[in-house]
Amino acid sequence: MQPLPGFRDFLPDDCAARNYIFARWRDVARRYGFVEWDGPLLEPTDLYRKKSGAEIVDQLFNFIDKGEREVALRPELTPTLARVIAAHEREFKKPLKWFSIGQFFRYEKQQRGRLREHFQLNCDIVGEAALATDIELIALGIDILRAFGFTEKDFVVRISDREFWTELLRSKNVSTDRWDELLQVIDKSEREPRAKTIEKLGNLADPVFAILGEGGKSEKLEQIVDGLHTRGLSDYVDVDVRIVRGLAYYTGVVFEVFDRAGKLRAIAGGGRYDNLIEQLSDGAISMPALGFAMGDVVLGELINETPRARDAMKETIAAEHKIDVYIVIAKEQRRADALAQIQQLRDRGYRVNYPLTAEKVGKQFQTAEDLGASLALLYGDEWPQVKVKNLATRKESLIAHQGLPDSVAKFFNVTASA
Ligand code: HAM
Repeated sequence: MQPLPGFRDFLPDDCAARNYIFARWRDVARRYGFVEWDGPLLEPTDLYRKKSGAEIVDQLFNFIDKGEREVALRPELTPTLARVIAAHEREFKKPLKWFSIGQFFRYEKQQRGRLREHFQLNCDIVGEAALATDIELIALGIDILRAFGFTEKDFVVRISDREFWTELLRSKNVSTDRWDELLQVIDKSEREPRAKTIEKLGNLADPVFAILGEGGKSEKLEQIVDGLHTRGLSDYVDVDVRIVRGLAYYTGVVFEVFDRAGKLRAIAGGGRYDNLIEQLSDGAISMPALGFAMGDVVLGELINETPRARDAMKETIAAEHKIDVYIVIAKEQRRADALAQIQQLRDRGYRVNYPLTAEKVGKQFQTAEDLGASLALLYGDEWPQVKVKNLATRKESLIAHQGLPDSVAKFFNVTASA
């Protein structure tokens, strides 16, 4: 009776929380001028084998389809985005600012903050190499989290530049086919025992730990911090060379977002991938690009652990889920009359509910309260009048059944302007 390990059922409260997250993701992305797009859930396995790097390939949900194709459920969106851009590049004015919300699948070891399916918001900017773009993207990431009520005390964006590491590998004449593997070792160094990292890095261990010790300084990263300072957002970022990112395609500035307390896994991660589109189009199209993805799992954990954010979510959901009108059918002879008016009220856009079968009047009023209805309309002995009860003030009155939708509309207009 259980879902597969790492998969979730979304009961109504979980769906409400998910929709709350999606609404804020969508709203802030649009505020920044991003437009929504999506790709297929299933892609050729090769797309990830070539582009995402070894770690993700080990985690693929892949199989052979009935047409003998090797396919995989998408573990991430970036390779799909690069494929789509390479195919449709001429149809759009650059730079493109695209966002997408969807579900992704990785066969990971299930642990806190990591499941086998999760939802991501992806935001990507394609066709602009200027550093102003990196700043805009990081500002977007910060503002999305601010929309949940988080402050600089709750989360931090740790920014870095992969070039710190690729320059080191280049200067040590490490062959490029080992870069992916070594970058992953550096990426994991924070979470692994030092001895294990030293063993994996071999003679690169000393220079790597030297860079980690110095903390890394670069003009590029300083400019990013300055750019965020101009927007009043610099308290949200720390320069941190330990951020390397586990995916293979990043080329420049990279960043990850963490809770300030450092208890949770990354909330979001991204960076520049200026060569990916060129590689995917076999050199036909070259275009700089950058983006990030934010997952729903860790974000949900942080919301639940932060009273301000949790209360804001609960209040918003409670308000959004209220119904407008509950119809109390006190006399079954009036059911047909009530249904005719329920139809009219719903046609006007009101959220209306009623008992599907005969029920005691007291129980019906209780249901009206439970559903958060503003008004209860009672169909019974008063007919051809209808008894109206304002459930907030408990005031009752009688209104004619003719023109009832207008009377209801008047009530809501008055309440809305009060
Ligand atoms: P990523 O760091 O692999 O980046 O994933 C982004 C976020 O998705 C993570 O920070 C995390 O919140 C969430 N996430 C990833 N895997 C899981 C999981 N197994 N369970 C729960 N949440 C998870 C990417 O996917 C890049 N494609 C992002 C990007 C977009 N880069 C450029 N554009």
